[in-house]
Amino acid sequence: MSADPFSLAGRRAVVTGASRGIGHAVAGELLRAGADVAVLQRSGPAEDLVALAADLGRRLEHHRTDLADAAEVEASASAVLAGGAVEILVNNAGTQYRAPAETFPADRFDEVLAVNLRAVFRLCQLLGAPMLRAGAGRIVTVASLLSFQGGVMVPAYAASKGAVAQLTKALSNEWAGRGVTVNAVAPGYLDTELNEALLADPTRHRQILERIPAGRWGRPADVGGAVRFLCSPAAAYVTGVVLPVDGGWLAR
Ligand SMILES: NC(=O)c1ccc[n+]([C@@H]2O[C@H](COP(=O)([O-])OP(=O)(O)OC[C@H]3O[C@@H](n4cnc5c(N)ncnc54)[C@H](OP(=O)(O)O)[C@@H]3O)[C@@H](O)[C@H]2O)c1
Repeated sequence: MSADPFSLAGRRAVVTGASRGIGHAVAGELLRAGADVAVLQRSGPAEDLVALAADLGRRLEHHRTDLADAAEVEASASAVLAGGAVEILVNNAGTQYRAPAETFPADRFDEVLAVNLRAVFRLCQLLGAPMLRAGAGRIVTVASLLSFQGGVMVPAYAASKGAVAQLTKALSNEWAGRGVTVNAVAPGYLDTELNEALLADPTRHRQILERIPAGRWGRPADVGGAVRFLCSPAAAYVTGVVLPVDGGWLAR
């Protein structure tokens, strides 16, 4: 282990969905820890991440990708690998759609599953295979409290996040012995665009806050630190874990 067990100096990381929210915080944290970072998302790279990378002397690449499109996932993974080895993959991007279960549109169900689950699995395969050949790698998926609970009016999201937690354990079982750890973080309720419907509803906002022992909604930076740890040498013997980052919600 290096002198600093939390350093990611010399690593190259891929982070999906770093234009805002949790992925943005994760990409910033990995840059600050010493990694070069490639971001995959539909919109361009966040300007402040570009500036941060320049300040730190790190490389920030952007590969425009709609993760709902299987062909774009394959193409971006190839483009990333053409640029060199990847030691860290953070499958963060996710999407949400709210509707009562009995009228939930089937095409929306497919879209949520494509982004939140299928793309995660394909990127783990496509970028994980070279990690396995190299005998080293770190994969972090982003699960949710709805990996444990069912939620209300979010059947596709809950199904996708339950599956992400199980996929994480399944991959860990096959890959941990070959040098690649696979873990998940399960963020609690965070103040991000994904939750704009909950944030805009004063009753739901208050009800959620009242159940969080930490006494506040989470922030993207809360998740960034946990992901950095799981990607670091310090976490070499941590694998197959779904780590809640929820201010104590699940323990309540
Ligand atoms: N916020 C929470 O409370 C919370 C709680 C538990 C888990 N999570 C999970 O944490 C992750 C990030 O959530 P967040 O709150 O940061 O969400 P967010 O603020 O809505 O950001 C979502 C990110 O995913 C990207 N994305 C969405 N759909 C995409 C697509 N089809 N193709 C490519 N990129 C796509 C977006 O980039 P573009 O729009 O530029 O494509 C954006 O960067 C998700 O997996 C979410 O399920 C969030």
